Amino acid sequence: MNVFGVDIGGSGIKGAPADLDRGQLAQERLKVLTPHPAEPKTVVEAVRKVVTHFDWKGPVGLTFPGVIVDGHTLTAANVDKGWVGLDARALFSDALGLPVALINDADAAGLAEMAYGAGKDRKGVVLMHTLGTGIGSALFSDGVLVPNTELGHLELNGKDAEKHASAAAREEHDWSWQHWAERLDDYFALVEQLFSPQLIIVGGGVSRKADKFLPLLKPRRAEIVPAQLQNDAGIVGAAMAAAKLG
Ligand code: BGC
Repeated sequence: MNVFGVDIGGSGIKGAPADLDRGQLAQERLKVLTPHPAEPKTVVEAVRKVVTHFDWKGPVGLTFPGVIVDGHTLTAANVDKGWVGLDARALFSDALGLPVALINDADAAGLAEMAYGAGKDRKGVVLMHTLGTGIGSALFSDGVLVPNTELGHLELNGKDAEKHASAAAREEHDWSWQHWAERLDDYFALVEQLFSPQLIIVGGGVSRKADKFLPLLKPRRAEIVPAQLQNDAGIVGAAMAAAKLG
């Protein structure tokens, strides 16, 4: 079954029909640049461009980098504050003329990894983290998602954890892989103390370079592995959320 997924990220808005039997894209994806500032009106227009490019008629799943409850965007740490409190599902659905499912970006990536990637068939507590502009988190217990955990905003050394250890912070401050790994160690120690996960899946664009930093991390009780779907996890997870619309 093919369902359309769109991943709204800090730098790009990427979409494609996803093949949910295989857990991969059914067609080459289209990426447009995320407008800056990433205001609701301009982002909705960019999403419409991506979906109409494929002449898609059917449910559409969309990720968003913030808390989503009942189709409403409740936080906007790295996008325009105009999203806070908005009925974004209705906004997208009206603009596209199609049924829409809205899901947090890390939750979407986690769903895809649990179904088709590094978390497949894994029971117990699994934490997926996306390391990008922010730090996204998705918490699973026996494969069931607890949405909107937002662990990237835990306090670490008196700061928002994502300021301490995101991939964007590494680039901004030009930290070495070793220095960044030490900061990630602090972060993983904190989440391990709180949730005792058996598995931590590390995703986000930088997971392509997992061999540069995962081997530098301190050993933990939890196994730490790179995500497998990498760039496509958000699109596939968004499509999974839309498939549930029926
Ligand atoms: C947001 C999360 C999001 C993460 C990754 C954080 O700043 O609060 O909702 O999942 O960034 O994009």
